[in-house]
Amino acid sequence: MDTVKSVARRRRTCRDYSDLPLSNAEMTEVINDAVWVPSGSNNQPWRFVVITDRAKMKGYSDAAKQNWLENLASSPHMQQYEKAIRDPDYNIFYNAPALVIIYGNKESYWHVYDCSMVALNLHLLAEEQGLGCCWIGFAHNIFADPAIKKELGVPENYQLVAPVILGHPAKKERVPENPNKRKPFDISFV
Ligand SMILES: Cc1cc2nc3c(=O)[nH]c(=O)nc-3n(C[C@H](O)[C@H](O)[C@H](O)COP(=O)(O)O)c2cc1C
Repeated sequence: MDTVKSVARRRRTCRDYSDLPLSNAEMTEVINDAVWVPSGSNNQPWRFVVITDRAKMKGYSDAAKQNWLENLASSPHMQQYEKAIRDPDYNIFYNAPALVIIYGNKESYWHVYDCSMVALNLHLLAEEQGLGCCWIGFAHNIFADPAIKKELGVPENYQLVAPVILGHPAKKERVPENPNKRKPFDISFV
C-alpha cells in the first residue's frame, strides 16, 4: 500500500514522457488536490496557468533557451548547461504533455514558500498516480517576463514561483538505475 513515506522515498524527477495526453479535467483534479498545503496566514496566494499544447511549449522552450544564451554572462548558474541550451533538439519541457505554472501573489508575505509547497505536492501526487513530474527552473526567465505574463493573463502582482511539467513516464520503471542518493547532511539535536 502507498504511504506518504513510500511515495516521498521513491519519487524521482521524470525527463522522459510518453505521448499520452493529460486532460484539462485530470489537470484540474491534481491541482485541486495539490493546494491542500499550509500557507502563511492561510492566505492561499496561488494561481495557475496550465498549458497542454506541446507546440506552444516548444515555442516557449526555444524562447527560454535563446534568452539564457543572450544572458549567459550574467547567469552564472546556467553556464554549466550551455551545451544543452545550445542543442536545438533539447526541449526544456522534455515534450511532456502538460505544464503547470504556479504564480504567487506578491502582496502575501510568504507566497514563495506557500507556492513551493504546492509544487512539492504536485510532485508527490503525480508519483502516487504513476505520473512523472519535473520542476523546470530553465523556464523561470520566460514565465517571469512581464510580456509573457500578460500573454498568459497573469496579473502584474503575481510572481512566478514554479513551472512544473507532468505526464505519463515513457518507461514503467519508477526508480531509475541511478537512485540519486541523498548527499550527507547535518542534523543537530540541541
Ligand atoms: C527549483 C528547481 C529547479 C529545477 N530545474 C530543473 C530544470 O530546469 N530541468 C531539469 O531537468 N530538472 C530541473 N529540476 C529537477 C532537479 O534537477 C532534480 O530534482 C534533482 O536533480 C534531484 O533529482 P530527483 O528529483 O530525482 O530527486 C529542478 C528542481 C528544482 C527543485
